[in-house]
Amino acid sequence: MMQRMQGQGKLGAYQTNGGDAWDPEPGENVLYLGAAEGATASWMCKQLDGTIVAVEKSPVAGLSLLRSARELDHLIPYIGDARNTGSYAPFVPSLGFVYQDIAQRDQVDIFVKNVERFSPRRAFLAVKARSIAVERDPKSVFEDAREAVEEAGRVVDVVSLDPFHKDHAMIVVDTVGE
Ligand SMILES: C[S@@+](CC[C@H](N)C(=O)[O-])C[C@H]1O[C@@H](n2cnc3c(N)ncnc32)[C@H](O)[C@@H]1O
Repeated sequence: MMQRMQGQGKLGAYQTNGGDAWDPEPGENVLYLGAAEGATASWMCKQLDGTIVAVEKSPVAGLSLLRSARELDHLIPYIGDARNTGSYAPFVPSLGFVYQDIAQRDQVDIFVKNVERFSPRRAFLAVKARSIAVERDPKSVFEDAREAVEEAGRVVDVVSLDPFHKDHAMIVVDTVGE
């Protein structure tokens, strides 16, 4: 049976704004990119019985992530760059989901690379428009991002995260049958 629950962070904003594509089945595993200190990744871990592999680039944030992981046996922290998929590939099990929350100019490329490499059933990209192009209308940045992620799968949802996260949107992609 599907484990439907109200999320926190950007996932919670996505759901509050009407997104309903977060539908984990028991035992499904998640690759979480941009875990920071692990707030949302730990929450996810408490809700799900699958493994969460949490990748975070900053060693400072990563320290807190490592501490959180000590208390959660199915949270696997990895301190490294989500661009280097090969470095953490040995720790990534078969996936239900990729969930990415990385505020970088190349965030869409990072997402496509990970989705193509790990072939999850479904993938969530929290896009921060201002990290991609500060001067552009966020709507046109989201449109470009939507087009670019089609390389990785079929877009099933695009939801603005305003007013909870200004100039952010969640793009959801399905890969089954791709
Ligand atoms: C907005 S924060 C994530 C917040 C977190 N998802 C939460 O809800 O608790 C973005 C994080 O992405 C990390 N990050 C940035 N570039 C990265 C990269 N190339 N690989 C992995 N993590 C990265 C940053 O260090 C930062 O901690």
